[in-house]
Amino acid sequence: ENIATNEQGKVDNNVTEDVNDTENKYENSAISLPIPPILEDTNPDPTVAEYTLTADYGTTEIIKGISTDTLGYNGNILGPTIRSKNGEKIIIHVNNNLEDSTTVHWHGLIVPGEMDGGPHQIIKEGESWSPEFVLEQPALTAWYHPHLMGETATQVYQGLGGLWIHDDDISASLGLPEQYGVDDIPVIVQDRAFYKDGSLYYNSNMMEGAVGNIIMINGAVAPYTEVPSSWIRLRLLNGSNAAQHEINFSDGRKFYQIASDGGLMEYPVEMSSIKLAPGERAEILVDLQSMAEADSVSLMVSNIKSLELISDGTSTNEYVLTDHLVDIEKWSTDDIVNERSFDLEGMAHMVSINGERFDMDSLSFTLSTDTLEKWTVSNVSGSSGGMGMMGGGTEHSFHVHGLQFQVISRDGTLPPEGERGWKDTVFLKPGETVEILVKFTLEGIFMYHCHNLEHEDAGMMGQFQVVE
Ligand code: C2O
Ligand code: CU
Repeated sequence: ENIATNEQGKVDNNVTEDVNDTENKYENSAISLPIPPILEDTNPDPTVAEYTLTADYGTTEIIKGISTDTLGYNGNILGPTIRSKNGEKIIIHVNNNLEDSTTVHWHGLIVPGEMDGGPHQIIKEGESWSPEFVLEQPALTAWYHPHLMGETATQVYQGLGGLWIHDDDISASLGLPEQYGVDDIPVIVQDRAFYKDGSLYYNSNMMEGAVGNIIMINGAVAPYTEVPSSWIRLRLLNGSNAAQHEINFSDGRKFYQIASDGGLMEYPVEMSSIKLAPGERAEILVDLQSMAEADSVSLMVSNIKSLELISDGTSTNEYVLTDHLVDIEKWSTDDIVNERSFDLEGMAHMVSINGERFDMDSLSFTLSTDTLEKWTVSNVSGSSGGMGMMGGGTEHSFHVHGLQFQVISRDGTLPPEGERGWKDTVFLKPGETVEILVKFTLEGIFMYHCHNLEHEDAGMMGQFQVVE
């Protein structure tokens, strides 16, 4: 068959050359990292930001010399970065130029249910949707993507998605690298597979969902970017459909995680590798001060050289690593007023949460604003006779709309340090149980679901209503 295999880094003979195997990408491929432009605020009122996003068809040279049909917002693939300030009013005009319905969900942003862009806020072909909201939440790296029931996976796979960077005064006061695209770099990680003619190969007939063998960073394969010899901040998003990715550096150097999904953490956490499930984000700082001009180090994604950082010898910030970033008010388990559990089960298209599949017309539960609940989330796939041929069950990730939550335990012990900040998506290996504390502040109907997009589209999702 004229297709890519679905194993990371391997392709069969009939497939486009695996560009990730190219040894010296700077000389040989020389694809510069695309930096998504910051979307222009068209409203002159300094307290109001107004944006336009248009979903449309495009073509992109993802693999050198070959053109691929893609989807994008305001461009050929992915979309611009939306940059908001805490407390300002935001109006977004979303136009749908696709020959299909779509929705746009603001993943990680705390907005009322009607503005959330989930499966209910359908934008039909040729129509528009203009949500308005005010963000009151700590600075974070969020993202936006389609959320149409049954078509989220294919729309994201074809290229729809973008970053949303939210700023506040606290984050701005920390002296962190903040020159967008220079020392503060967006890194959208996505795996894809391609036919030899360059068209996207979408294989959802896998236990774990659609997984590709080629890694794209911001829509490009194995790009390079010039960076100063300074501390560099990378805003990592795993925007893949189904695969979790292990991210580290080619020389094994240490780095510091400074933010989880929902914003800055209490202190930088030193690590040499970070794993992100689909939908998860992390901001990391890496010290490149000792790199001389033309020195380079590569960001590895699941052991594939995916982004080469080449020093230009300049210095752009005087950042000094500190042992404190921000204060996070930890919710107390003494204040829990209700508990619920969520059993994630199954694989491929046979997936469910608490034995149920998503039904657009039914609510799983109702809860009140400003009440603390403990949710126990378990990956029971593989445990109840589901081991089968694949053995061990399937990984899932649990995402909740409408808030940032706090993880209080993973398998009965304290979660790893990188999960002790604000989270909206949490990864579960087969058999794992995670306890999270939730407290909603805004009303509306919100989703909880597996962020493996093939699982989500197969119905591994539920909805609830938050009331006063
Ligand atoms: Cu990132 Cu319900 O989605
Ligand atoms: Cu899943």
